[in-house]
Amino acid sequence: MHKEHWLKSELDQLKQAGLWRSLRSVTTAPTGRILLDGREVILLGSNNYIGLSVHPIVVEAAATTVQKYGTGASASRLMSGNCQLYADLEAKIAKAKGTETALVFGSGYLANIGTIPVLAGDGDLILSDALNHASIIDGCRLSQATKQVYRHCEVEHLESLLAQSTKFRRRLIVTDGVFSMDGDIAPLPEICALAERYDATVMVDDAHGFGVLGETGAGTIEHFGLENRGVIQMGTLSKAIGGLGGYVAGSAVLIDFLVNRARSFVFTTGLPPATLAGASAAIDVIRSAPELRQRLSSNVFLLKNALVESGFQLLPSKTQILPLILGSADVASRFAEVLLSHGVYAPAIRPPTVPEGTSRLRISVMASHTTEDLETAVKGFVAARAATQIDSSTHPKQHD
Ligand SMILES: Cc1ncc(COP(=O)(O)O)c(C=O)c1O
Repeated sequence: MHKEHWLKSELDQLKQAGLWRSLRSVTTAPTGRILLDGREVILLGSNNYIGLSVHPIVVEAAATTVQKYGTGASASRLMSGNCQLYADLEAKIAKAKGTETALVFGSGYLANIGTIPVLAGDGDLILSDALNHASIIDGCRLSQATKQVYRHCEVEHLESLLAQSTKFRRRLIVTDGVFSMDGDIAPLPEICALAERYDATVMVDDAHGFGVLGETGAGTIEHFGLENRGVIQMGTLSKAIGGLGGYVAGSAVLIDFLVNRARSFVFTTGLPPATLAGASAAIDVIRSAPELRQRLSSNVFLLKNALVESGFQLLPSKTQILPLILGSADVASRFAEVLLSHGVYAPAIRPPTVPEGTSRLRISVMASHTTEDLETAVKGFVAARAATQIDSSTHPKQHD
Protein backbone atom coordinates (compact mmCIF):
# COMPACT_ATOMS: atom_id res chain seq x y z
CA MET A 1 0.00 0.00 0.00
CA HIS A 2 2.77 2.44 0.98
CA LYS A 3 3.89 2.48 -2.68
CA GLU A 4 0.65 4.28 -3.51
CA HIS A 5 1.26 7.30 -1.27
CA TRP A 6 2.09 9.41 -4.26
CA LEU A 7 -1.36 8.73 -5.71
CA LYS A 8 -2.97 10.06 -2.57
CA SER A 9 -0.83 13.17 -2.47
CA GLU A 10 -1.63 13.94 -6.12
CA LEU A 11 -5.32 13.48 -5.38
CA ASP A 12 -5.01 15.83 -2.39
CA GLN A 13 -3.56 18.45 -4.70
CA LEU A 14 -6.50 18.02 -7.06
CA LYS A 15 -8.89 18.49 -4.15
CA GLN A 16 -7.13 21.67 -3.05
CA ALA A 17 -7.32 23.08 -6.58
CA GLY A 18 -11.07 22.35 -6.79
CA LEU A 19 -10.39 19.76 -9.49
CA TRP A 20 -11.44 16.61 -7.62
CA ARG A 21 -13.79 14.37 -9.61
CA SER A 22 -15.96 11.70 -8.05
CA LEU A 23 -18.80 9.45 -9.15
CA ARG A 24 -22.43 9.88 -8.20
CA SER A 25 -25.04 7.16 -8.32
CA VAL A 26 -28.05 7.51 -10.64
CA THR A 27 -30.91 5.06 -10.14
CA THR A 28 -33.37 6.24 -12.82
CA ALA A 29 -33.38 6.82 -16.59
CA PRO A 30 -31.92 10.15 -17.82
CA THR A 31 -35.08 12.24 -18.15
CA GLY A 32 -36.01 15.70 -16.80
CA ARG A 33 -35.89 14.47 -13.20
CA ILE A 34 -33.64 11.71 -11.88
CA LEU A 35 -32.77 10.06 -8.60
CA LEU A 36 -29.21 11.11 -7.86
CA ASP A 37 -27.61 9.55 -4.79
CA GLY A 38 -31.15 8.65 -3.76
CA ARG A 39 -32.59 12.16 -4.11
CA GLU A 40 -34.88 13.54 -6.83
CA VAL A 41 -33.24 16.36 -8.77
CA ILE A 42 -33.86 18.23 -12.00
CA LEU A 43 -31.28 17.00 -14.51
CA LEU A 44 -29.53 19.69 -16.56
CA GLY A 45 -26.44 17.64 -17.34
CA SER A 46 -27.50 14.97 -19.81
CA ASN A 47 -26.97 14.54 -23.55
CA ASN A 48 -30.21 12.60 -23.95
CA TYR A 49 -31.42 15.75 -25.69
CA ILE A 50 -34.59 14.42 -27.31
CA GLY A 51 -35.24 11.54 -24.92
CA LEU A 52 -34.45 8.71 -27.34
CA SER A 53 -32.81 6.49 -24.71
CA VAL A 54 -36.27 6.00 -23.19
CA HIS A 55 -38.40 6.33 -26.34
CA PRO A 56 -40.82 3.35 -26.48
CA ILE A 57 -39.90 2.44 -30.08
CA VAL A 58 -36.18 2.48 -29.29
CA VAL A 59 -36.57 0.53 -26.04
CA GLU A 60 -38.77 -2.06 -27.75
CA ALA A 61 -36.22 -2.56 -30.56
CA ALA A 62 -33.42 -3.07 -28.05
CA ALA A 63 -35.50 -5.35 -25.81
CA THR A 64 -36.58 -7.71 -28.60
CA THR A 65 -33.01 -7.83 -29.90
CA VAL A 66 -31.51 -8.74 -26.55
CA GLN A 67 -33.96 -11.64 -26.35
CA LYS A 68 -32.85 -12.88 -29.76
CA TYR A 69 -29.08 -12.29 -29.63
CA GLY A 70 -28.22 -12.11 -25.94
CA THR A 71 -26.16 -9.39 -24.32
CA GLY A 72 -22.85 -9.20 -26.13
CA ALA A 73 -21.10 -9.52 -29.51
CA SER A 74 -18.39 -11.79 -28.07
CA ALA A 75 -15.70 -10.87 -30.61
CA SER A 76 -14.33 -8.01 -32.68
CA ARG A 77 -16.17 -7.14 -35.89
CA LEU A 78 -13.43 -8.63 -38.02
CA MET A 79 -13.72 -11.93 -36.15
CA SER A 80 -17.25 -13.15 -35.37
CA GLY A 81 -18.68 -9.97 -33.83
CA ASN A 82 -20.09 -8.37 -36.99
CA CYS A 83 -23.78 -8.87 -36.23
CA GLN A 84 -25.88 -8.35 -39.37
CA LEU A 85 -27.62 -5.42 -37.61
CA TYR A 86 -24.51 -3.31 -38.31
CA ALA A 87 -25.37 -3.21 -42.02
CA ASP A 88 -28.80 -1.70 -41.41
CA LEU A 89 -27.46 0.82 -38.90
CA GLU A 90 -24.58 1.90 -41.14
CA ALA A 91 -26.92 2.30 -44.11
CA LYS A 92 -29.18 4.53 -42.01
CA ILE A 93 -26.29 6.68 -40.81
CA ALA A 94 -24.96 7.05 -44.37
CA LYS A 95 -28.43 7.99 -45.66
CA ALA A 96 -28.91 10.60 -42.93
CA LYS A 97 -25.45 12.03 -43.54
CA GLY A 98 -25.69 11.94 -47.34
CA THR A 99 -22.55 9.83 -47.71
CA GLU A 100 -21.75 6.69 -49.67
CA THR A 101 -21.36 4.60 -46.56
CA ALA A 102 -20.54 4.63 -42.84
CA LEU A 103 -18.65 2.60 -40.26
CA VAL A 104 -19.71 2.09 -36.64
CA PHE A 105 -17.07 2.02 -33.89
CA GLY A 106 -17.42 1.06 -30.22
CA SER A 107 -17.74 4.71 -29.16
CA GLY A 108 -17.18 8.24 -30.42
CA TYR A 109 -13.91 8.33 -28.52
CA LEU A 110 -12.74 5.20 -30.32
CA ALA A 111 -13.85 6.61 -33.68
CA ASN A 112 -11.72 9.73 -33.22
CA ILE A 113 -8.61 8.05 -31.85
CA GLY A 114 -8.76 5.43 -34.60
CA THR A 115 -9.57 7.66 -37.55
CA ILE A 116 -7.36 10.73 -37.13
CA PRO A 117 -4.00 8.90 -36.96
CA VAL A 118 -4.73 6.93 -40.13
CA LEU A 119 -5.91 9.98 -42.07
CA ALA A 120 -2.81 12.01 -41.23
CA GLY A 121 0.65 10.60 -40.68
CA ASP A 122 4.28 11.50 -41.00
CA GLY A 123 4.71 14.41 -43.44
CA ASP A 124 1.10 15.57 -43.06
CA LEU A 125 -0.42 18.50 -41.15
CA ILE A 126 -3.43 18.43 -38.83
CA LEU A 127 -5.15 21.75 -38.13
CA SER A 128 -7.33 21.48 -35.03
CA ASP A 129 -9.69 24.00 -33.39
CA ALA A 130 -8.50 25.14 -29.94
CA LEU A 131 -11.68 23.91 -28.26
CA ASN A 132 -11.96 20.50 -29.91
CA HIS A 133 -13.08 17.55 -27.80
CA ALA A 134 -10.49 15.52 -25.87
CA SER A 135 -11.01 12.52 -28.16
CA ILE A 136 -9.92 14.62 -31.15
CA ILE A 137 -6.92 15.88 -29.19
CA ASP A 138 -6.00 12.30 -28.30
CA GLY A 139 -6.44 11.24 -31.94
CA CYS A 140 -4.05 14.02 -32.93
CA ARG A 141 -1.60 12.91 -30.24
CA LEU A 142 -1.61 9.37 -31.61
CA SER A 143 -0.86 10.63 -35.12
CA GLN A 144 2.66 11.06 -36.46
CA ALA A 145 1.54 14.21 -38.31
CA THR A 146 2.53 17.76 -37.39
CA LYS A 147 -0.24 19.40 -35.36
CA GLN A 148 -1.20 23.05 -35.31
CA VAL A 149 -4.05 24.49 -33.24
CA TYR A 150 -6.04 27.39 -34.66
CA ARG A 151 -7.88 29.86 -32.45
CA HIS A 152 -11.42 28.82 -31.68
CA CYS A 153 -13.60 29.22 -34.80
CA GLU A 154 -11.20 31.83 -36.25
CA VAL A 155 -11.12 31.20 -39.97
CA GLU A 156 -8.54 33.96 -40.53
CA HIS A 157 -6.10 32.15 -38.27
CA LEU A 158 -6.89 28.84 -39.97
CA GLU A 159 -6.26 30.43 -43.34
CA SER A 160 -2.92 31.88 -42.28
CA LEU A 161 -1.80 28.39 -41.19
CA LEU A 162 -3.04 26.83 -44.42
CA ALA A 163 -1.24 29.46 -46.45
CA GLN A 164 2.06 28.32 -44.89
CA SER A 165 1.36 24.61 -45.26
CA THR A 166 2.65 23.90 -48.76
CA LYS A 167 5.58 21.82 -47.52
CA PHE A 168 3.21 19.19 -46.10
CA ARG A 169 2.05 16.22 -48.15
CA ARG A 170 -1.60 16.44 -47.02
CA ARG A 171 -3.67 18.72 -44.76
CA LEU A 172 -6.48 17.61 -42.42
CA ILE A 173 -8.72 20.20 -40.76
CA VAL A 174 -10.61 18.75 -37.79
CA THR A 175 -13.32 20.45 -35.78
CA ASP A 176 -16.27 19.79 -33.52
CA GLY A 177 -19.52 20.63 -35.33
CA VAL A 178 -21.26 21.76 -32.14
CA PHE A 179 -18.66 22.51 -29.46
CA SER A 180 -19.42 20.25 -26.53
CA MET A 181 -18.69 22.69 -23.71
CA ASP A 182 -19.57 25.98 -25.44
CA GLY A 183 -22.60 25.06 -27.52
CA ASP A 184 -21.50 27.17 -30.49
CA ILE A 185 -21.31 25.84 -34.04
CA ALA A 186 -18.15 25.68 -36.17
CA PRO A 187 -18.10 28.02 -39.19
CA LEU A 188 -18.19 25.06 -41.57
CA PRO A 189 -19.10 26.88 -44.81
CA GLU A 190 -15.97 29.04 -44.44
CA ILE A 191 -13.87 26.05 -43.37
CA CYS A 192 -15.01 24.04 -46.42
CA ALA A 193 -14.23 26.96 -48.74
CA LEU A 194 -10.71 27.21 -47.27
CA ALA A 195 -10.23 23.45 -47.55
CA GLU A 196 -11.11 23.60 -51.23
CA ARG A 197 -8.75 26.53 -51.81
CA TYR A 198 -5.83 24.90 -49.99
CA ASP A 199 -6.47 21.27 -50.95
CA ALA A 200 -7.26 20.09 -47.42
CA THR A 201 -9.65 17.43 -46.08
CA VAL A 202 -12.26 18.43 -43.48
CA MET A 203 -13.36 16.11 -40.69
CA VAL A 204 -16.25 17.22 -38.47
CA ASP A 205 -17.17 15.68 -35.11
CA ASP A 206 -20.96 15.88 -35.02
CA ALA A 207 -21.42 14.34 -31.58
CA HIS A 208 -23.79 17.08 -30.43
CA GLY A 209 -25.39 17.90 -33.79
CA PHE A 210 -26.84 14.57 -34.96
CA GLY A 211 -30.48 14.29 -33.90
CA VAL A 212 -30.72 17.98 -33.11
CA LEU A 213 -29.53 20.24 -35.93
CA GLY A 214 -30.81 20.43 -39.51
CA GLU A 215 -34.22 20.11 -41.12
CA THR A 216 -34.40 16.33 -40.54
CA GLY A 217 -32.06 16.21 -37.53
CA ALA A 218 -29.17 14.88 -39.63
CA GLY A 219 -26.72 17.27 -37.98
CA THR A 220 -24.32 20.11 -38.66
CA ILE A 221 -23.71 19.37 -42.34
CA GLU A 222 -27.45 19.44 -43.03
CA HIS A 223 -27.80 22.60 -40.90
CA PHE A 224 -25.41 24.37 -43.29
CA GLY A 225 -26.46 22.53 -46.48
CA LEU A 226 -22.92 21.24 -47.03
CA GLU A 227 -23.74 17.79 -48.36
CA ASN A 228 -21.60 16.92 -51.41
CA ARG A 229 -18.60 18.88 -50.11
CA GLY A 230 -16.70 15.72 -49.18
CA VAL A 231 -16.59 16.38 -45.43
CA ILE A 232 -15.76 13.30 -43.34
CA GLN A 233 -18.51 13.15 -40.74
CA MET A 234 -17.68 11.52 -37.45
CA GLY A 235 -20.11 11.33 -34.55
CA THR A 236 -21.50 9.35 -31.68
CA LEU A 237 -24.59 7.27 -31.01
CA SER A 238 -24.38 8.05 -27.30
CA LYS A 239 -25.90 11.52 -27.10
CA ALA A 240 -29.14 12.47 -28.92
CA ILE A 241 -29.26 8.92 -30.36
CA GLY A 242 -29.51 7.70 -26.77
CA GLY A 243 -27.31 4.59 -26.96
CA LEU A 244 -23.64 3.85 -27.39
CA GLY A 245 -21.22 3.75 -30.31
CA GLY A 246 -19.39 6.05 -32.68
CA TYR A 247 -19.36 6.31 -36.45
CA VAL A 248 -17.53 7.74 -39.42
CA ALA A 249 -19.58 8.51 -42.52
CA GLY A 250 -17.85 9.07 -45.86
CA SER A 251 -16.79 7.40 -49.09
CA ALA A 252 -16.59 3.62 -49.55
CA VAL A 253 -12.82 3.81 -50.03
CA LEU A 254 -12.42 5.73 -46.76
CA ILE A 255 -14.45 3.14 -44.89
CA ASP A 256 -12.44 0.24 -46.40
CA PHE A 257 -9.31 2.07 -45.31
CA LEU A 258 -10.59 2.42 -41.74
CA VAL A 259 -11.63 -1.24 -41.55
CA ASN A 260 -8.07 -2.17 -42.48
CA ARG A 261 -6.12 0.44 -40.59
CA ALA A 262 -7.98 1.98 -37.63
CA ARG A 263 -6.60 0.20 -34.57
CA SER A 264 -9.51 1.19 -32.33
CA PHE A 265 -11.80 -0.53 -34.84
CA VAL A 266 -9.74 -3.67 -35.34
CA PHE A 267 -8.69 -4.44 -31.78
CA THR A 268 -11.93 -4.17 -29.83
CA THR A 269 -15.13 -6.16 -29.43
CA GLY A 270 -18.22 -5.30 -31.47
CA LEU A 271 -21.15 -3.51 -29.85
CA PRO A 272 -23.97 -5.51 -28.25
CA PRO A 273 -26.64 -6.29 -30.90
CA ALA A 274 -29.35 -4.62 -28.80
CA THR A 275 -27.35 -1.39 -28.91
CA LEU A 276 -27.27 -1.57 -32.72
CA ALA A 277 -31.01 -2.19 -32.95
CA GLY A 278 -31.72 0.65 -30.51
CA ALA A 279 -29.58 3.08 -32.52
CA SER A 280 -31.26 2.08 -35.80
CA ALA A 281 -34.69 2.64 -34.29
CA ALA A 282 -33.55 5.96 -32.81
CA ILE A 283 -32.40 7.21 -36.23
CA ASP A 284 -35.85 6.34 -37.62
CA VAL A 285 -37.50 8.29 -34.81
CA ILE A 286 -35.29 11.33 -35.45
CA ARG A 287 -36.68 11.47 -38.98
CA SER A 288 -40.30 10.67 -38.12
CA ALA A 289 -40.74 12.75 -34.98
CA PRO A 290 -39.67 16.37 -35.65
CA GLU A 291 -41.86 17.41 -32.71
CA LEU A 292 -39.11 16.18 -30.36
CA ARG A 293 -36.68 18.72 -31.84
CA GLN A 294 -39.38 21.41 -31.70
CA ARG A 295 -39.98 20.70 -28.01
CA LEU A 296 -36.24 20.84 -27.38
CA SER A 297 -35.97 24.24 -29.12
CA SER A 298 -38.86 25.70 -27.16
CA ASN A 299 -37.35 24.42 -23.91
CA VAL A 300 -33.99 25.98 -24.84
CA PHE A 301 -35.76 29.27 -25.59
CA LEU A 302 -37.64 29.14 -22.28
CA LEU A 303 -34.65 28.35 -20.06
CA LYS A 304 -32.27 30.71 -21.81
CA ASN A 305 -34.68 33.65 -21.58
CA ALA A 306 -35.54 32.93 -17.96
CA LEU A 307 -31.87 32.76 -16.96
CA VAL A 308 -30.98 35.92 -18.86
CA GLU A 309 -33.98 37.75 -17.33
CA SER A 310 -32.71 36.67 -13.93
CA GLY A 311 -29.38 38.37 -14.66
CA PHE A 312 -27.26 35.41 -15.76
CA GLN A 313 -24.99 35.99 -18.73
CA LEU A 314 -24.59 32.82 -20.77
CA LEU A 315 -22.08 32.20 -23.55
CA PRO A 316 -23.77 32.98 -26.88
CA SER A 317 -24.69 29.38 -27.71
CA LYS A 318 -27.04 28.57 -30.58
CA THR A 319 -27.83 25.08 -29.35
CA GLN A 320 -29.17 23.08 -26.41
CA ILE A 321 -25.85 23.48 -24.55
CA LEU A 322 -25.95 26.63 -22.41
CA PRO A 323 -22.65 27.44 -20.66
CA LEU A 324 -22.57 29.66 -17.59
CA ILE A 325 -18.94 30.70 -17.14
CA LEU A 326 -17.94 31.08 -13.48
CA GLY A 327 -14.14 31.35 -13.63
CA SER A 328 -12.08 29.29 -11.22
CA ALA A 329 -12.61 25.58 -10.71
CA ASP A 330 -13.26 26.15 -7.05
CA VAL A 331 -16.01 28.70 -7.67
CA ALA A 332 -17.70 26.52 -10.28
CA SER A 333 -17.62 23.50 -7.96
CA ARG A 334 -19.11 25.50 -5.10
CA PHE A 335 -21.87 26.89 -7.31
CA ALA A 336 -22.74 23.42 -8.60
CA GLU A 337 -22.84 22.00 -5.06
CA VAL A 338 -25.17 24.73 -3.80
CA LEU A 339 -27.33 24.36 -6.90
CA LEU A 340 -27.56 20.64 -6.21
CA SER A 341 -28.62 21.34 -2.64
CA HIS A 342 -31.54 23.24 -4.24
CA GLY A 343 -32.46 20.15 -6.27
CA VAL A 344 -30.86 21.07 -9.61
CA TYR A 345 -28.01 19.06 -11.14
CA ALA A 346 -25.83 20.93 -13.65
CA PRO A 347 -22.30 19.63 -13.22
CA ALA A 348 -19.29 21.92 -12.93
CA ILE A 349 -16.96 21.60 -15.91
CA ARG A 350 -13.35 22.35 -15.04
CA PRO A 351 -9.87 22.01 -16.56
CA PRO A 352 -8.64 20.03 -18.39
CA THR A 353 -12.09 19.72 -20.00
CA VAL A 354 -12.17 23.51 -20.49
CA PRO A 355 -9.33 26.06 -20.46
CA GLU A 356 -8.01 27.42 -17.15
CA GLY A 357 -10.14 30.30 -15.80
CA THR A 358 -13.25 29.30 -17.76
CA SER A 359 -14.75 26.72 -15.41
CA ARG A 360 -18.45 26.67 -15.89
CA LEU A 361 -21.76 25.00 -15.48
CA ARG A 362 -22.66 23.21 -18.69
CA ILE A 363 -26.43 23.44 -18.68
CA SER A 364 -27.97 21.03 -21.16
CA VAL A 365 -31.63 21.18 -22.01
CA MET A 366 -33.80 18.17 -22.94
CA ALA A 367 -37.12 17.84 -24.72
CA SER A 368 -38.36 15.91 -21.71
CA HIS A 369 -38.09 18.88 -19.33
CA THR A 370 -41.46 20.27 -18.32
CA THR A 371 -42.03 24.01 -18.01
CA GLU A 372 -42.25 23.47 -14.26
CA ASP A 373 -38.85 21.70 -14.24
CA LEU A 374 -37.26 24.65 -16.01
CA GLU A 375 -38.94 27.30 -13.84
CA THR A 376 -37.90 25.44 -10.70
CA ALA A 377 -34.36 25.16 -12.08
CA VAL A 378 -34.12 28.93 -12.58
CA LYS A 379 -35.17 29.49 -8.96
CA GLY A 380 -32.36 27.11 -7.97
CA PHE A 381 -29.82 29.14 -9.97
CA VAL A 382 -30.98 32.38 -8.35
CA ALA A 383 -30.75 30.81 -4.88
CA ALA A 384 -27.29 29.38 -5.63
CA ARG A 385 -26.06 32.77 -6.79
CA ALA A 386 -27.35 34.40 -3.62
CA ALA A 387 -25.80 31.73 -1.40
CA THR A 388 -22.40 31.79 -3.11
CA GLN A 389 -22.39 35.55 -3.78
CA ILE A 390 -20.96 34.91 -7.20
CA ASP A 391 -21.44 37.61 -9.78
CA SER A 392 -22.64 35.57 -12.72
CA SER A 393 -23.64 38.59 -14.78
CA THR A 394 -20.10 39.02 -16.09
CA HIS A 395 -17.69 36.58 -17.64
CA PRO A 396 -14.62 36.39 -15.39
CA LYS A 397 -12.42 35.31 -18.26
CA GLN A 398 -13.11 34.25 -21.80
CA HIS A 399 -11.05 31.60 -23.46
CA ASP A 400 -8.98 32.46 -26.44
C1 LIG B 1 -17.53 16.36 -29.34
C2 LIG B 1 -17.42 14.97 -28.80
N1 LIG B 1 -16.77 14.05 -29.54
C3 LIG B 1 -16.64 12.79 -29.12
C4 LIG B 1 -17.18 12.38 -27.92
C5 LIG B 1 -16.98 10.96 -27.49
O1 LIG B 1 -18.12 10.23 -27.77
P1 LIG B 1 -18.45 8.91 -26.93
O2 LIG B 1 -19.05 9.36 -25.65
O3 LIG B 1 -19.41 8.15 -27.82
O4 LIG B 1 -17.17 8.18 -26.73
C6 LIG B 1 -17.87 13.32 -27.13
C7 LIG B 1 -18.49 12.96 -25.84
O5 LIG B 1 -18.09 12.31 -24.99
C8 LIG B 1 -17.99 14.64 -27.59
O6 LIG B 1 -18.61 15.56 -26.84
